[in-house]
Amino acid sequence: MGTADTSADGDTSAAAGTSDDRHGPPEDATRFWERHYSTRRTWGTRVNPLLAETAAALRPGTALDLGCGAGGDTIWLAQQGWNVTAVDISGTAVTQVQARADELGVADRVTTERHDLSESFPDGRYDLVSAQYFHTPFPMARTQVLRAAARALLPGGLLLIVDHGSTAPWSWNQDPDIHYPTPAETAAELDLGPSLWSVLRADMPRRQATGPAGETATVVDNVLLVQRTTAPN
Ligand SMILES: C[S@@+](CC[C@H](N)C(=O)[O-])C[C@H]1O[C@@H](n2cnc3c(N)ncnc32)[C@H](O)[C@@H]1O
Repeated sequence: MGTADTSADGDTSAAAGTSDDRHGPPEDATRFWERHYSTRRTWGTRVNPLLAETAAALRPGTALDLGCGAGGDTIWLAQQGWNVTAVDISGTAVTQVQARADELGVADRVTTERHDLSESFPDGRYDLVSAQYFHTPFPMARTQVLRAAARALLPGGLLLIVDHGSTAPWSWNQDPDIHYPTPAETAAELDLGPSLWSVLRADMPRRQATGPAGETATVVDNVLLVQRTTAPN
């Protein structure tokens, strides 16, 4: 834990709009993220530490990576034996993830699908659904997506949501009034019935992170881990 993973943090600042995104508003979310993954090939290729920590304690099964980006989590999960469905709004991103899975010999355990998750959600039921820094500068039906994620869990399956809890010094958005939803707020928004889901973890750990230029800082993650407790309806 606490390893410096420039991948996640790099994507983070991009999500809020990085330097070369400042010169004009993108036309829509798809174009924005397409441009992001067409021009930045090195970020997001390492596993996010909280996902690794959580999944390391599990027996590999089926996993869904929401907003997979460059696929660091998807590839790592596949390398641990998980069968992973990787989803992103960017067709470029999912194509790159599939190619990387092929290069690394795990293509048989990786399925990629392009979805605007505000509009469509992958079929299937999963032992693990992961939403790592599922942030975007565009309107998105995030609560609806995360509720669909909770419904997609198999009995006993886990939904891991990791959001930013602080602004890294290298983040483009240095708005001092920015509000990051706490895990408790996210749980309240999801409003998951306690007979079907239980919250296993809701906290805000700190870790050392490394920015795109190699600078380091302590950042906070907002972590919510939910388990589906009974058979699906
Ligand atoms: C901040 S990045 C995080 C990427 C990756 N999970 C990571 O930790 O490196 C957010 C991701 O969500 C994706 N995304 C944004 N809006 C989306 C939507 N409406 N549907 C599907 N994916 C979306 C973006 O393309 C991007 O890959």
